[in-house]
Amino acid sequence: MARILTGVQSTGRPHLGNILGAILPAVELANKVENDSFLFIADLHSLTQIKDSKILNENSFQVAATWLACGLNPDLTTIYRQSDVPQCTELAWYLNCYYPYQRLKLAHSFKDKADRLEDVNAGLFSYPMLMAADILLYDADFVPVGKDQLQHLEMTRDVAARINHKYGDVFILPKEIIEKNNQLIPGTDGEKMSKSRNNTIDIFESEKTIKNIINKNIITDNTPLEDSKDPNSSTVYRLFKLLASKDRSGKMADNLLAGGYGWGHAKKELLEEILYTFSEQREKFTHYINHPDEVEEILQKGALKAQKVAKKTLDRVRKNLGYN
Ligand code: TRP
Repeated sequence: MARILTGVQSTGRPHLGNILGAILPAVELANKVENDSFLFIADLHSLTQIKDSKILNENSFQVAATWLACGLNPDLTTIYRQSDVPQCTELAWYLNCYYPYQRLKLAHSFKDKADRLEDVNAGLFSYPMLMAADILLYDADFVPVGKDQLQHLEMTRDVAARINHKYGDVFILPKEIIEKNNQLIPGTDGEKMSKSRNNTIDIFESEKTIKNIINKNIITDNTPLEDSKDPNSSTVYRLFKLLASKDRSGKMADNLLAGGYGWGHAKKELLEEILYTFSEQREKFTHYINHPDEVEEILQKGALKAQKVAKKTLDRVRKNLGYN
């Protein structure tokens, strides 16, 4: 049985792009019975950027509620908050002491963030070693990540190999599974949907809010109602096509091409499609928002399972390093 582990950032409530591009495919992988899967909310990593305790806490809850609402089964996947397993920070310290400063300096993600962010703290710099600890602590075989995390995985293997070289087989060297993510989810402006572009659609908002976002934010041209419109250059159609059956998206394309069918009609259909596609997820999400204790209980159960594995690994590491 292969152990698959991944961490998700807790930077706020995931949007339609996150859900279609990352969460739903990951849930499918995690719910496969032949995998022993671990999924955690990387709230210690979040501290490098978020210093508001309320937001930090709330973001973790929103992320957990989203994954659960999107079908992650806590009986099949160990889901937990990174900060509930303090063994991770202990291991991170050991790894920091075995990894050359000069190598850590080569991390692209740090350079990128150091250029953009105001708060360039030391945690941001050693971020890759905390991530390596997340992975090595659980003897993960496979780590599904986006392309941007590839270098972190290389550093993880590098530091693990350095320790193995000195002490024998302490760690399993993990392999990445690169999320193809070739499915580009357009935001309301037609560019890639992302929080920083302010072009997101939040599927857990009220019907009225989603309607407003669709009507006000999705850009359409001013082709008159009766004229023919090109479906493929329209964001409304591109989004609709991602959600609707072939039959229905084909019909919308025909309608747009034929003329006499306006953007208002298309937007109305898009709203209905979103509400229909995610009706179950929306219902579950509302349930969790109204029963936060249930989410907490799931996270605590997950943390206990994770701690069991973590303690074993850490014992092994401590012995090898001379702390016994
Ligand atoms: N750094 C990852 C990201 O930005 C999140 C993450 C933290 C992670 N720890 C991890 C992913 C361990 C995989 C494994 O997306």
